[in-house]
Amino acid sequence: MKITTKINIMTTAWILCVLVAVNAIVFFSFMKITINMEDQELYQRANSLIKDMKLDSSSVLIKDQLTPYLTGHSFIRMVQPGSKVKNEVTNDKHMAAKIKPKFVRKKEAERKTIMQKNGEEQILIVRIPIHSNGGMSTVLEMGEKLSGLELAKDVLLSIQISSTILGALLALLGGRWLSNLIIRPISNMINTMEEIEQSGIPKKIVIQHETKDELQKMAVTFNQMIGRLEENLDKQRQFISDASHELKTPLTVIKSFADHLLRRGIRNEADALDAIETIHSEATRIQKMTERFLDLADTESGNHLDTKSLDLVALCQSIIKQLKSAYKRDIDLHFAAPAITVKADELKLKQAIIILIDNAIKYSTDKIEVYLIVNELNTVIKVKDYGIGIPEYEIKNIFERFYRVDKARSRETGGTGLGLAIAKNIMKQHHGEIKISSTEGEGTEAELFLPKS
Ligand SMILES: Nc1ncnc2c1ncn2[C@@H]1O[C@H](COP(=O)(O)OP(=O)(O)OP(=O)(O)O)[C@@H](O)[C@H]1O
Ligand SMILES: [Mg+2]
Repeated sequence: MKITTKINIMTTAWILCVLVAVNAIVFFSFMKITINMEDQELYQRANSLIKDMKLDSSSVLIKDQLTPYLTGHSFIRMVQPGSKVKNEVTNDKHMAAKIKPKFVRKKEAERKTIMQKNGEEQILIVRIPIHSNGGMSTVLEMGEKLSGLELAKDVLLSIQISSTILGALLALLGGRWLSNLIIRPISNMINTMEEIEQSGIPKKIVIQHETKDELQKMAVTFNQMIGRLEENLDKQRQFISDASHELKTPLTVIKSFADHLLRRGIRNEADALDAIETIHSEATRIQKMTERFLDLADTESGNHLDTKSLDLVALCQSIIKQLKSAYKRDIDLHFAAPAITVKADELKLKQAIIILIDNAIKYSTDKIEVYLIVNELNTVIKVKDYGIGIPEYEIKNIFERFYRVDKARSRETGGTGLGLAIAKNIMKQHHGEIKISSTEGEGTEAELFLPKS
């Protein structure tokens, strides 16, 4: 069942229940109040009759005294002990015959329903004992048809029934209008999603009115999600194009040297060796590049971190020891405490530190200094070199994938331009930061900030 139909049925049913309940309360309150008023009125009439009546009169005279008190359809009786009727006057014999006389010791009001020719009739009877000569010998019984009440009841019921039907109809129409209003943005969203599903192209929802409600919020969030998706797709396309472009150069070199070898063979040994060396070096470059691609993909996928407590001093000491022996460079480690504990993914943090030291090694010839600093908020790993530096206007670009300040030099040093992008991703995964400050010709300072909490 469609959600609009569900909302419609539910609201209409609810409003119908409320209307029925309210009408029932109104109906029963009206009946109770009106009947009480009728009781009071009949009591009053009976009392004034008793006041005016001369009980010691003859039977005929008593009847004469009672007759003026008769109304539309009514009867008045004098009832003696044993429920015997002493005197009775009535203008509706049929009705009076259906009400049995009753002798009572205390005054009472009673309602009786009797069957008449034209259906059910409500009769109100009051009985008041009359005290005379210190004793109680007679009861005045006065009864009348509640025809006014019956009429009012019928009118009220018909008004209530018609207003309930009208209310339910309005609720049905209003419910349909309301549910359509609510559902329209959702339907738009569903249509857009179906289009996306069929075409495979992300598409945003058109927000027609700024309603600032939850539905608009949902549409805005959906559009933001689609925006992110588009951005990621663009990034992916860009990456594929950049990566193929990067791979093209070494592959072209390999192919041309391989062609050369195929054409000339290995007759000229020195020439052939040169070609093989170039092929080997370019293949190594491709190998390194693909490793970098995988690292980048891994850090961008938002894979789960294997975080644990580790000693940063020991970690840096082991990294520096490895790099020193591999590159034969001067790398000094400065630390304030003999052990600095951080919570991080050891392999990834190690990778980020190596990226910074590797850059310092590639783009400087002097000594390299590594500082481990602990401040209130962060643990900072700072790699300082005294090399070629980076022009100020290039600093904002160096975290972009494949970006190299000096392409020719990077080719010489074997840089792919992915190191800093990977380091930035790693720091993002650790909720940390990477900052680089540099002065061209003087040197560079690269810092990794690991938040303490
Ligand atoms: N310490 C530094 N001194 C001077 N230039 C630097 C330094 N670090 C980075 N750069 C510049 O920033 C660019 C991007 O650095 P990044 O580490 O991302 O790439 P790469 O070193 O070229 O290649 P990769 O690290 O992927 O092998 C470098 O090509 C270089 O031009
Ligand atoms: Mg690098």
